[in-house]
Amino acid sequence: MSVFDDPGLFGRLWAAGYDSPGNPDPAPAVDFLADLADGGPVLELAIGTGRVALPLAERGLALHGIEASEEMVAQLRAKPGGDQIPVVVGDMADVQVTGPFRLAYLVFNTLFNLVDAERQADCFRNVARVLSPGGAFVIETFVPDPRSFDADEQVQVREVTEDSATIRLHRYDRPAQRFIRQTITFDGDGVHLKPFAMRYAWPHQIDEMARQAGLRLTERYADWHRRPFTADSPSHISVYRAE
Ligand SMILES: C[S@@+](CC[C@H](N)C(=O)[O-])C[C@H]1O[C@@H](n2cnc3c(N)ncnc32)[C@H](O)[C@@H]1O
Repeated sequence: MSVFDDPGLFGRLWAAGYDSPGNPDPAPAVDFLADLADGGPVLELAIGTGRVALPLAERGLALHGIEASEEMVAQLRAKPGGDQIPVVVGDMADVQVTGPFRLAYLVFNTLFNLVDAERQADCFRNVARVLSPGGAFVIETFVPDPRSFDADEQVQVREVTEDSATIRLHRYDRPAQRFIRQTITFDGDGVHLKPFAMRYAWPHQIDEMARQAGLRLTERYADWHRRPFTADSPSHISVYRAE
């Protein structure tokens, strides 16, 4: 198994430290998603440790999750209310869940954790299959900016202490729209690698995957506060609807 074909790898490497103060505040996403949920039920793909799902469930919505990593699910289960959310452990590109759902969502750039275009397209088809008529699929991703790729490929210093140093390196495969990233820690025990990969896509490519799955773009914003999406927006929130 490699970083390109092991969906459980992220959780094995990151679950223990995932809930850090550096993660985005879920409140604006929760407000946005609660508005669209239409009473539910709601499906979160790649639910992780419940950063968004738990506060959304607190609004009285029935939440369901898909998650590739047992380690991430264990973190979710350890939180208040975390044992009330049914989670299917598997790959969001094809794992079977029973709908229909009024709302499905995949946030925090996680569509790009599926590291090839075919798996991303599979994921759209998998969601389209379980949305109720008129149901919404919400995606949040960054907009790739090729002007930053060269800078990303330079060594980035993450942390330096008396006992350790952590750096980060990227290598882009521009034709494949993919990068691999290493977060490398040097300490008294040796060298520790945390590999990670993404297949990034531009909004029009995501729209095409949705269209081929029978989903239509109905809204696009620059952020969860519904600020207008422009050519300079670094990320987008896109709402697709089942016909
Ligand atoms: C950045 S975290 C996001 C977690 C959560 N959605 C949030 O917003 O905090 C990415 C999550 O995607 C999960 N993941 C990665 N690839 C996956 C796949 N193919 N199927 C299901 N989950 C996957 C990881 O295990 C991890 O929990």
